[in-house]
Amino acid sequence: MTPEQAKVKIDKLRDVLHQHNYDYYIKSEPTISDFEFDHLISELQQLENNYPQFIDENSPTNRVGSDLNREFESFTHPYPMLSLGNTYNKEELEEFDQRVRKVTGDDVSYFCELKYDGVAVALTYTNGKLWRALTRGDGTRGDDVTRNIRTIRSIPLKLQGKGYPQQFEIRGEVIFPGEGFEKMNREREAKGEPLFANPRNAASGSLKMQNSSEVAQRPLDCLFYYVPGEQHLFETQHKSLESAREWGFKIPSYNRLSRSLEEVFSFIDHWESAREDLPFEIDGVVIKVDSIAMQQQLGFTAKTPRWAISYKFKAEQALSCLLSIDFQVGRTGAVTPVANLEPVQLAGTTVKRASLHNADQIQLLDVRIGDHVYVEKGGEIIPKIIGVSMERRDPAFQPFQFITRCPECNTPLERKEDEAAHYCPNTNECPPQIKGRIEHFISRKAMDINAAEATIDLLFREGLVRNVSDLYALKYDEVVKLERFAEKSAQIWLRALKHRSWHLFIVSSLPWESGTWVKPWPENLRMPS
Ligand code: IVH
Repeated sequence: MTPEQAKVKIDKLRDVLHQHNYDYYIKSEPTISDFEFDHLISELQQLENNYPQFIDENSPTNRVGSDLNREFESFTHPYPMLSLGNTYNKEELEEFDQRVRKVTGDDVSYFCELKYDGVAVALTYTNGKLWRALTRGDGTRGDDVTRNIRTIRSIPLKLQGKGYPQQFEIRGEVIFPGEGFEKMNREREAKGEPLFANPRNAASGSLKMQNSSEVAQRPLDCLFYYVPGEQHLFETQHKSLESAREWGFKIPSYNRLSRSLEEVFSFIDHWESAREDLPFEIDGVVIKVDSIAMQQQLGFTAKTPRWAISYKFKAEQALSCLLSIDFQVGRTGAVTPVANLEPVQLAGTTVKRASLHNADQIQLLDVRIGDHVYVEKGGEIIPKIIGVSMERRDPAFQPFQFITRCPECNTPLERKEDEAAHYCPNTNECPPQIKGRIEHFISRKAMDINAAEATIDLLFREGLVRNVSDLYALKYDEVVKLERFAEKSAQIWLRALKHRSWHLFIVSSLPWESGTWVKPWPENLRMPS
């Protein structure tokens, strides 16, 4: 890459990232996942490292974003609220460990914590009493949300025990526990109010409410993880949290002191799956050098501490734009709406399509073309749409009208009583239904004949099969002419088709399997006597 090309790329990345920062921090409406954002930032960082002549103090790599809100008074943070370096793989953790050891020597322990997925707050206590609570804001100044913070039951307004400094700051994450979140969304649904897409949005929306008595109704919680300070108040990170726990702060007991990187890795592996059983959401783990003296030796870069790093799990939810809705007709005639999305990273893969289930679901979510929708990966192969970002809704977007005719054969659709799905009743002539039945018949679960979907499609297009029994009437001369076959493959395929066991044939043609009888019974076949 020439310096000129690098400059063009850097400018483009900066523009894109400024926009994403604005979407995330000001509008609370991210349009890309954290994973993608971090990826773009590190791409830009890399280019800026390689081409230092283009460094700009206003680059998105030089700030941590802002959630400042005009309706709240803002104050300067006594200690800037920096972010953490992110990594998604263990090799980068090894590099982190090497960087640390170069400075501290080999006698280093790491304190592993969960990375709570909520809203960061910095609380200052004076003479044992809560004095002020600030949001992160732009990292230098934050919004004063003290009134709302006071409503959170688990936050001590007056400290317990003794030994706390006359004035100190403590940082934590305000979270919306899963159970309370589900309950609140059900109540909002009943009242016709827009739903929160995830607990983090619910926590951040709650903290920014003007009426603190409404905040008090929400089951918010706050988990603490850091006591910043210049003096050697504590020897280690884990002792600082032990003291904080004695003073009345909620410190989860999942944290672990690790003597080696292997122990750090097993902490990560454990929580990557065990996170599902937690009563709140986490988006990764945070690894901190335990010794405060070593932390001080390592210090900070302009944006992050050198003594800590976060290992982020792959996101399971993402926001993307709904481009269009397609309709698929299955072998039973059921019509399934499928959303086409702007490609988005989700749990390590790029997602372009998501399920919308049926007309009821579309109506319940009030999904409209052009909307920004939340996509979630569940157990199913295809991710599903779980919500719409109403704030991004353009009033011009029209309610979606479900189709009334089959997209394949134009037959008017029917809807059976008590069933959510629409059906195409043209069982015998609707192409995807015919092909679907044949595919099902020869599938592994039934006849187990090796045939790609494209082969069936080809046989159908050539007019050679219209139902399952046509398969048995296929002749070598017809098959060998087709583009997907050569002499040998045509022979093998036909032999496999016609010599499958009778037992399998009967099982796979049972009427409750395919929805229709295989008819007529193939003339060229005789039941074995
Ligand atoms: S330590 C100077 N520990 O992650 C280091 N942060 O990307 C201060 N977070 O703004 C951060 N869990 O909101 C730390 N156990 C944890 C955390 C944690 C969640 C959040 C926090 C911070 C962000 C950094």
